[in-house]
Amino acid sequence: MKTLLKFTAITLAAMLPLMDSAQAANEANWKIGRVYNRLVCNACHRLDDGKVVSPYERNKADWQVYFAADSHDTTGKANPSAKYYMGTDYRESIKATNKAAAKFLKMPNAIMEGHVIEFYLRGAKDSDTPARCQ
Ligand code: HEC
Repeated sequence: MKTLLKFTAITLAAMLPLMDSAQAANEANWKIGRVYNRLVCNACHRLDDGKVVSPYERNKADWQVYFAADSHDTTGKANPSAKYYMGTDYRESIKATNKAAAKFLKMPNAIMEGHVIEFYLRGAKDSDTPARCQ
């Protein structure tokens, strides 16, 4: 019994840091979202009349609605789904000319969506750290 307890304690101690870093890898990270938005999303927005999209354009609640509805361009010039542009299929299609897409190629779609949405919420107009865009 004593040995078993000791074993459990050691195993837990060894596993905790691993769990922490696994969790950190899956946690929404606005910095990754910012890089992706700048180098993938706005790479295209810049082409289109040069207008970049910035988190500052909406309040947090509005961004939540926007991403939950998976809205995007309604003019018909681009894909109507913002998720499409966060996904691996799109990254795959531009990886030859877009370094950020190549770098994040393997990141699961849901994880990337978390990063990008976190960036928009963090920089929203009514947030503590409103962010106009680069
Ligand atoms: C292939 C080109 C392209 C890519 C890539 C792209 N977009 Fe867009 N996006 C557009 C176009 C075109 C519009 C419409 C611009 C306009 O209104 O004239 C737009 C508009 C938007 C708008 C403004 C819509 C509104 O109603 O205010 C947001 C927000 C947006 N995009 C977010 C994103 C995000 C986030 C990504 C990356 C995950 C992304 N876009 C990737 C082409 C793109």
